[in-house]
Amino acid sequence: MLTPEQNDLLHKVGPGTPMGRLMRRYWHPVAAVAELDDNPVKAIRLMGEDLVLFKDASGEYGLLERHCPHRRADLSYGWVEEDGGLRCSYHGWLFDTTGRCIGQPYEQIAHPEANFKDKVRATAYRVEPKAGLLWAYIGEGPAPELWDWDRYHDRGYKQVVFSEIPCNWLQCQENSIDPVHFEWLHSNQSLRREGSTEYAPTHIRIAFEEFEFGFRYFRIRTDTDEENELWSVGRVCLWPNALYAAGHFEWRVPVDDEHTLSVGWFLDPIPGEQPFEQERIPYWHSPIVDKETGRWISSHIMNQDFIAWVGQGSVSDRWNEHLGESDRGVIMLRKQFTDDLAVVEDGGDPKGVLRDASRNDRMPLPRIRTEIGQFAPTTYPPVFPFQVDQPEEIVREYHALWAEYGGALAP
Ligand code: FES
Ligand SMILES: [Fe+2]
Repeated sequence: MLTPEQNDLLHKVGPGTPMGRLMRRYWHPVAAVAELDDNPVKAIRLMGEDLVLFKDASGEYGLLERHCPHRRADLSYGWVEEDGGLRCSYHGWLFDTTGRCIGQPYEQIAHPEANFKDKVRATAYRVEPKAGLLWAYIGEGPAPELWDWDRYHDRGYKQVVFSEIPCNWLQCQENSIDPVHFEWLHSNQSLRREGSTEYAPTHIRIAFEEFEFGFRYFRIRTDTDEENELWSVGRVCLWPNALYAAGHFEWRVPVDDEHTLSVGWFLDPIPGEQPFEQERIPYWHSPIVDKETGRWISSHIMNQDFIAWVGQGSVSDRWNEHLGESDRGVIMLRKQFTDDLAVVEDGGDPKGVLRDASRNDRMPLPRIRTEIGQFAPTTYPPVFPFQVDQPEEIVREYHALWAEYGGALAP
């Protein structure tokens, strides 16, 4: 349980807030690389800041404040120019990826000698591509390393899935360190959906452990023992706002205090051993509301998680909670963030920030299943279980690759 004041301190991430300063010390995924290839300008909202992301003709990425420094028009309605820069659609002022104003059409005609453009700058932030995603750093000081996890480099079919979740990011992330929910929200709920009256194996022991880049959690159920990798390897609450589980990552990116962008990164197996390079990591948006009933969709694993998160309210009223033994991980997570608020206040780096570039190459994370093929069906391409409405063209592309690389198709 938190007091309303503690709750405010931990969940609010707008500009100038303590937690906002803390969360701005990390890189956040905000779009897919392929998205900007399809459309080079994108409106972004991150931690309450309206921004515009763009890719200019030379292939450089820029991330600027959304409103034009001239008279505040929305730069996401502008366009990128052949010679570089993002052009405002209102009076044509042009900005490069560093925020420099490099063109002011009428001012340059009226007062070419004044060089007014040299006196104007748009606020600009860092953006970097990695693993098919575009990552933003909108914090102070030199940006830390953008983590290079080993899983990004594994052979397999990758895809990125976005969903907009209408609630605060912190309750989403608390789900990343909550082993017992799996038994109920996923296993038992799915059994009921199938009409079964059975119960899934129950948790009989859980444990949590801190490591450099987050926390791991471990479980023993009535159908597993200490030999099982659910206990021997565990799963990862990846700092500060992600879950890493076997083949996939889920980031809970704070859009503002009442909205979160769920960014999923998934790796599916490709049969055989021959080299496989994926030219383009596709992306898609998954709905969360059933259009017919107006209710949340509950058929897929992450959709079930989303129901739990939004069900806690747009911001969870944590002063009404009753935490038990199953919530030990949630308490650890809150304590870590609370401790790090003081660290950041003193000018230090919070947990998980990496400054040593020499270490940032395929950094290993604990793996539940080292070989992705071990848990993949080998006779047909696996069905995507995480989020609803996977586009047909992605299913087709994956099935075609599956067949091309020697996998058998389902009868
Ligand atoms: S408001 Fe952007 S050029 Fe005038
Ligand atoms: Fe879950």
